[in-house]
Amino acid sequence: MKEFLYYQHCRHFPMLLDLPDKCGGIDRSSDVFLLLVVKSAPNNYDRREILRRTWAEERQQNGVWIKRVFIVGTNGSGFERERLNKILDLERSHYKDILQWDFGDTFQNLTLKQVLFFEWMERNCPKARFLFNGDDDVFVNTNNVVKYLQSLEDNDGSKHLYTGYCMGGRTVIRAQSSKYFVPVKLYKPSQYPPYCSGGGFILSGYSALVIYNMSQSISLISIDDAYIGMCLAKAGLGFRSHKGFKAIGVHVPSVRIDAYDPCFHKELLVVHGFLPQKLYYMWHKVTDPNLKCFGNYK
Ligand SMILES: *[C@@H]1O[C@H](CO)[C@@H](O)[C@H](O)[C@H]1NC(C)=O
Ligand SMILES: *[C@@H]1O[C@H](CO)[C@@H](O)[C@H](O)[C@H]1NC(C)=O
Ligand SMILES: *[C@@H]1O[C@H](CO)[C@@H](O)[C@H](O)[C@H]1NC(C)=O
Repeated sequence: MKEFLYYQHCRHFPMLLDLPDKCGGIDRSSDVFLLLVVKSAPNNYDRREILRRTWAEERQQNGVWIKRVFIVGTNGSGFERERLNKILDLERSHYKDILQWDFGDTFQNLTLKQVLFFEWMERNCPKARFLFNGDDDVFVNTNNVVKYLQSLEDNDGSKHLYTGYCMGGRTVIRAQSSKYFVPVKLYKPSQYPPYCSGGGFILSGYSALVIYNMSQSISLISIDDAYIGMCLAKAGLGFRSHKGFKAIGVHVPSVRIDAYDPCFHKELLVVHGFLPQKLYYMWHKVTDPNLKCFGNYK
C-alpha cells in the first residue's frame, strides 16, 4: 500500500509496445464493432495463445468486426525482464495485439493499466462501438456477445452501456492484511458505488470515453473494477444487469452432471476462472453446430 500511495498520482508511463493502427485510424475505428480488451500479465504467454485461437480470434462475426488487444505492463528485472519483453515484442510483430506500458504489472496497478488503456483508446480507437474488457482466464462466448449487442435498440455504441456481473453496495475493505485493502484517505465512503466484476464486463464506446473523462479528476484506487463504478457514478450512470455473466462458475443441479457440460455454457456470455485446456474444450463444444442440448439448462 505504501508503494501504491507513492505512485498513485503517476499516470504517465511510456509505451513499450504500441499499435496505433489497430482500429484502422480514428475515423475507420467505427468499423470495429467489438474490441476485446484483455488484461494479461507478461508471463501469461500460454493464455494469450489459446485466446487467439478460441473466443478472442479476430474475425467478422454476423457481419461485424471483432478485434483484440492484450494490455500488459512489465515484470521482473534484469535478464528476466528483458526476456519477457522480447517475447511480448515477438507476439506484437506476429499478431499485432499487444499494448505494453513500462510499469510493474501487479494487482495494485490494474487500475492504472485500465486508465492507460482508455487514454490509448481515445487517441487511437475512439469510435469503436463496444468493448469487452476482462481477464485472460475467462470464457467469453463472443458470438453471443455480438448477438446480444446487435439486439439492443441503440447498437451503434453512442449510448451508455455498462453490463456484466454487477452489484451495488459492496463494502470497502479496511483490513490492512487484505489484498483489497483501501485506506480511508484514498476513499472515504464505506461502500462502493455499484459496479460490475472486472473479470469480464461490457461497455459501449461512449461509456468508455465518459469513464476516461471522469478518471481525470478521480484519484486512482487499487480496485480496478470498483474504480470504473466510481467514474460512472460521478457521471450519474449505472449498470444494466444480464444473467449471462457468471463470476463463480456455473451451477449444475447434480454431481452427476459435469460442471463443464457445454449445454450449461452455450447460452452464456462470460464465465470466470477458465484456464487454457478447458477454454479450448469449451469453445469447440459451444461453437459446434452439431452440439445437441435437450431440456432446461438454466
Ligand atoms: C511478476 O509476476 C508475478 C507472477 O505473476 C507477480 O506475483 C509479481 O507481482 C510480478 N512482479 C512485478 C514487479 O510485476
Ligand atoms: C506500479 O508500477 C510502478 C512503476 O513500475 C512500480 O514502481 C510500483 O511498484 C507499482 N505499484 C505497485 C503497488 O505494485
Ligand atoms: C470527454 O471530454 C472531452 C473534453 O472535455 C469532450 O470533448 C468529450 O465530449 C467528452 N466525452 C464524453 C463521452 O463525455
